[in-house]
Amino acid sequence: MTQTQTWQLLAQHRAQTADVSLLSRFDAPDRFQAFSAETDGLLLDYSKTALDTTALSLLERITAEAGLADRISQMFRGDKINTTEDRAVLHTALRAQTDEPIKVDGDDVLPAIRQTLQQMESFAEALRDGSIRSSTGAKFTDVINIGIGGSDLGPAMATLALAPYHDGPRCHFVSNVDGAHIADTLKGLDPQTTLVIIASKTFTTIETMTNARTALDWLRATLGDDTSAHLAAVSTARDKTSAFGIAPERVFGFADWVGGRYSLWGPVGLPIMIAIGAENFRQFLSGAAAMDRHFRTAPFRENLPVMLAMTGIWHHNICGYGSRAILPYDQRLSRFPAYLQQLDMESNGKSVALDGSPLPRDSGPIVWGEPGTNGQHAFYQLLHQGTRVIPAEFLIAAEAHEGDLPHHHQLLVSNCLAQSEALMLGRSREEARAIAAKRGFTGDALEQMAGHLSFTGNRPSVTLAYPKLTPFVLGQLIALYEHRVFVEGVVWGLNSFDQWGVELGKELAVSLLPLVDGSAPAEAYEAKDGSTRGLLSKLTHPHP
Ligand code: F6P
Repeated sequence: MTQTQTWQLLAQHRAQTADVSLLSRFDAPDRFQAFSAETDGLLLDYSKTALDTTALSLLERITAEAGLADRISQMFRGDKINTTEDRAVLHTALRAQTDEPIKVDGDDVLPAIRQTLQQMESFAEALRDGSIRSSTGAKFTDVINIGIGGSDLGPAMATLALAPYHDGPRCHFVSNVDGAHIADTLKGLDPQTTLVIIASKTFTTIETMTNARTALDWLRATLGDDTSAHLAAVSTARDKTSAFGIAPERVFGFADWVGGRYSLWGPVGLPIMIAIGAENFRQFLSGAAAMDRHFRTAPFRENLPVMLAMTGIWHHNICGYGSRAILPYDQRLSRFPAYLQQLDMESNGKSVALDGSPLPRDSGPIVWGEPGTNGQHAFYQLLHQGTRVIPAEFLIAAEAHEGDLPHHHQLLVSNCLAQSEALMLGRSREEARAIAAKRGFTGDALEQMAGHLSFTGNRPSVTLAYPKLTPFVLGQLIALYEHRVFVEGVVWGLNSFDQWGVELGKELAVSLLPLVDGSAPAEAYEAKDGSTRGLLSKLTHPHP
């Protein structure tokens, strides 16, 4: 049986069962137990999808045909599976809780990882207890992380998520090259008590380097030329950090086998550690390591990353649903959808296979979302009654940090459950007619109103339920999604670890700058397309 045949069988199975309602699947009394999986207190409920035993067997066959088990081993042992960049993919080594060597080019990478973690801990704790001080002898009250993409989204998301654990300096994140971002951030801060971390894997990213130079000028304006006490860097490029004037002991390095969007487990996570302390950061790593162990050992049906990936493939490739909504019912996960956008869309937004040939089927879906309950009052209308079906992924804690506000959390849980229930149940034409009649509609008006009030329902969702948003749980959740993206990438046969598609825009931005600042010769304008010329004229010679 070839891979293509298995896909065809799965598509046929979908066609034969598409009319079975989600609700009727619960006629089987153990549907929830059979179509959910749990590890270390984290539950994935995928029972409100149209997946059944036959679909799962075929999906399991697809993963076997894609060589998933081998690909997992290759990733964890450090094979160079990022083939277009000739790199290993070892973010898992940053959180590994083993002394078994993990080798890249024959060398064990663990000693250097452990040493850097120590260096981070000494620095973060000294900053927190005030033994590292500013150039004026003051205790640091604020830290600004300057970075973008993977050097920003991970630490910014996680620092916000773990706010109840903050007992260190305040952390701020500047990413956008729009001067508004750094200007608004600096406005409330005192250079004498502010530390700036410049986080860039490559130390060449134009947004980060531009913001870093602006921050340096801001520091110098108050502190004079010696700002070294106020600077630190996170990068793989030590030559560039020293050229920028950052003392070597203030540089936290990592290797090129840590992808930007997978980097928050190492030095890119420094702001998280500064905010919550070394012990809590270790808990965060432990949560991810626990998910790694689970991913490597749990059987197919019990394996959370694999099953989350299977819901994704089923919805995207078989049901034809092109996007997925990430809906955390957890205000502190408000940046989680943005974080997952990079993780998922930069990893799997590809249209060629590992060998460079066109992919035979759709790859990465559109990922988007906002926290509940806010989204309910904004875009959920389309989730319930729009013409497209959008599978939803709900995230919810059993317990809130605000133990003194139990009613808030009860309402939050009720709303979360109500939404997945409403998406599944919908409202039939008969029920809609009864409601319209109660509201006084009769005859044709009643029929019309019933049309507006009915919902098709039958819209799938999955729910991730966890005990409480602790550092351990956050580590589990992020690692779960990392591995989900990996499994989907393996099934689609693509390289989830490069990002060539972002290069062209970067190159064009650099070449457009002289046209924007007016230093380019006239021929350079002529070489541009009509739209770009028109927009340049509007933006570089604005009229009132
Ligand atoms: O442009 C995309 C990207 O390369 C991301 O992959 C990366 O996370 C981001 O830019 C920032 O890169 P760096 O950490 O090298 O500044």
